[in-house]
Amino acid sequence: MTGPNEAANMGSSTAWPQDVGILAMDIYFPAQYVDQAELESHDGVSSGKYTIGLGQTRMGFCTDREDINSLCLTVVNRLLEKTGTDYSRIGRLEVGTETLVDKSKSVKSVLMKLFTDSGNTDLEGVDSTNACYGGTAALFNSVNWVESSAWDGRLALAVCGDIAVYAAGAARPSGGAGAVAMLIGPNAPLVLERGLRSSHMTHVYDFYKPDMSSEYPAVDAPLSIQCYLSSLDTCYTRYRSKAASKGDAKPVNLDSFNAVLFHTPYCKLVQKSLARLALNDFVSLEKETRQGIEHLKQFVDVELEKSYFDRDVEKAFMTHSMKQFETKTKPSLHCATNIGNMYTPSLYGGLISHLVVNSASVLAGQRVALFSYGSGLASTFFSIRISEDESKLSSLLSVVSDVQTRLESRAKLAPADFVSTLEVREKAVHASPYSPVGPVDTMFAGTWYLENIDDKHRRQYSRVPVPAVNGH
Ligand code: ACO
Repeated sequence: MTGPNEAANMGSSTAWPQDVGILAMDIYFPAQYVDQAELESHDGVSSGKYTIGLGQTRMGFCTDREDINSLCLTVVNRLLEKTGTDYSRIGRLEVGTETLVDKSKSVKSVLMKLFTDSGNTDLEGVDSTNACYGGTAALFNSVNWVESSAWDGRLALAVCGDIAVYAAGAARPSGGAGAVAMLIGPNAPLVLERGLRSSHMTHVYDFYKPDMSSEYPAVDAPLSIQCYLSSLDTCYTRYRSKAASKGDAKPVNLDSFNAVLFHTPYCKLVQKSLARLALNDFVSLEKETRQGIEHLKQFVDVELEKSYFDRDVEKAFMTHSMKQFETKTKPSLHCATNIGNMYTPSLYGGLISHLVVNSASVLAGQRVALFSYGSGLASTFFSIRISEDESKLSSLLSVVSDVQTRLESRAKLAPADFVSTLEVREKAVHASPYSPVGPVDTMFAGTWYLENIDDKHRRQYSRVPVPAVNGH
């Protein structure tokens, strides 16, 4: 029998499943946050440093009741409940995370707990770790499986989650926490464009977590920013060449996309990144054309690799791309500014924000570019087409229709409570035995939480009950 790939290799692509991509997705974030303006005042930094300088409004954080397993249990359980998907329909389960509580046991294996009643243990996939890139690895592995000869016709589930916390200091306001789950299959409303991914991966120590006993990373902040921007340049250049080699008549530039989404360490870096793509577009023009753009004339000879920290270039191209930022990128920052950097789910929180902020009629038929970056480093630029099919789009949007209400119903905690919560986490992270002290009654309905850790480091979880609907 000829498998889908064999058919493709034989010159026919008709046997491939069509429109493989994201069928449904959901986000989970903790039920408490700290206000970034209040944090500025608490930390004694100048007013505006976190809110304007970084572009952050609120930062979600977890008590010791939550860990990476509970975050992923919650988001998977909610997505399958909301979509009415039976656990037996999942044939692959991939997890991307950099929040490790065990050096051997995968988060995926803990998620198998949810599959017990269905009797389904036939699920490929384990965890992927590479800083903030793991979610993209999980997504690509899932899509690849559906498009492969190993596909058995069932759905894949790509899950990503992290608890992003930094030691006290300049990086602390760029934390956050959350998880995203995505159901992957054919005939999707969000279709990954085939043959148009471009990656850049290399070895660098920009952000890493060498201390196994701590949740905090070691960060070379300027290097991490330079690596992020240079990876963006490289991936975008490669994406454009791939598009050209596939026979695209018009060269790719920012006008090729209705929206451009980025991994978001903090929102200001994303605005600079969109400006960076505008700079790439400018540099790729003929010299004569560049000279003709009056307000950018002084940058005709600018070199990409010499401009990462050039203030004049940055300012000019941020102004130049301001309108495009407002329409193509700013809507996707809604979760990022209100939750913070979630690491692996950050880019997919951006995609959910884009879906939540824009109406179905605006979204229908859009082409969306996405840039994924994980320190260390791994990065990819890829694109998604949004279906024009009203019913597919409406089921996708119905799953995320409660995101805004959930964001607003979170409790604001004082900066001092945020700091003391992190101090509790510092002691709790690898303790055994351990009984968490964080409150359960303030968590969202349906949230999985850590019940206890026994003297063999084994973790037990419970779930906040979901209220019955219509008396059922
Ligand atoms: N009002 C307005 N803006 C202000 C104010 C103020 N009162 N004070 C400072 N700013 C601006 C600064 O001018 C600066 O702007 P710029 O980025 O345009 O230069 C910005 O706020 C940040 O201030 P800095 O003093 O330059 O940097 P800081 O020491 O606060 O650190 C940083 C910021 C580096 C982002 C830190 O939060 C960090 O280390 N984060 C983790 C690393 C990271 O996120 N790297 C990105 C890629 S890797 C990843 O995804 C984890």
